[in-house]
Amino acid sequence: MRKITYANWQIINGNCIDVLKNDWPKERKVDLVFADPPFGINFGTNNGYYNRDKNNVVGKYREVKQEDYQSFSAAWLEQAYRILKDNGLLWTVSGWTNNHITRTEALHLGFNLVNEVIWKHNFATWNPSKFISTHYVLSLYAKNPNNYYFNPTCRFPIVKGKGKNKENYADRLSVWEIPKEYRRGKEKTPNMLPYALVTKMLQYTTKKDFIILDLFLGSGIVGIAAYDLDCKYIGIELDEKIFRFARKFLSANTWSREDKQAYLDFLEYFVVSNEFEDCISID
Ligand SMILES: C[S@@+](CC[C@H](N)C(=O)[O-])C[C@H]1O[C@@H](n2cnc3c(N)ncnc32)[C@H](O)[C@@H]1O
Repeated sequence: MRKITYANWQIINGNCIDVLKNDWPKERKVDLVFADPPFGINFGTNNGYYNRDKNNVVGKYREVKQEDYQSFSAAWLEQAYRILKDNGLLWTVSGWTNNHITRTEALHLGFNLVNEVIWKHNFATWNPSKFISTHYVLSLYAKNPNNYYFNPTCRFPIVKGKGKNKENYADRLSVWEIPKEYRRGKEKTPNMLPYALVTKMLQYTTKKDFIILDLFLGSGIVGIAAYDLDCKYIGIELDEKIFRFARKFLSANTWSREDKQAYLDFLEYFVVSNEFEDCISID
């Protein structure tokens, strides 16, 4: 059975900006911030376009208005920068329409862009008057451009010799084609990243025991990938229904039955008390 220390395994129901500003212990730093924020595209009204039954979609998608997007981005990025270790990394997931805002604010704060990755998915929103968009933008930023973790051989070894390194080379190209996962007929959150995508992002940029902070938790899929990679995980979600879904989803996909129950009990406690420093471990 895996040993879990809950101080490093928490999900929190709250606004990530407020939680980090008001409740986060000063000395607590993380290795990687994962941020898949609302895109500012009025997503919550689009169930029809997304070809799904809205009765299966949990919670109220918390969008951010276009006019507020710059101040919203600056606020969460500032907190992310503050609680990241000096050699820490930030992954952001963005739509192409507002990525420039996130990028400008991130660079302004002192983040350094390491890579931009295009995630080409198997989904597109029809539009007769322009090109049909079928990608999201993943950006990897480092606090220090000369000191951050990147493991180029985490999925395929580097093989020396002409024509022999095809797998490693192909896997590290900056366009990734990974299908979305559809939970047809099942309960779901408004938008869940594919496990394969999140796992690839984390494999290259984390190692065992890294602490990952997921500012916009959603379904909890980043937590599942973090667990499978032996990392520690803290996730924050504003919407209570989505938070409750994530809690169920995480517990169903990770720990043994005894661990799950203890975790659920702890979370009930945590939601009420909203305290960080409790630390329960299970042997
Ligand atoms: C794009 S979704 C994240 C999806 C998630 N990565 C997944 O794969 O399931 C953004 C999530 O952030 C939540 N959210 C919006 N504003 C927030 C805030 N200020 N603090 C925390 N969560 C927020 C939304 O309710 C939504 O669930």
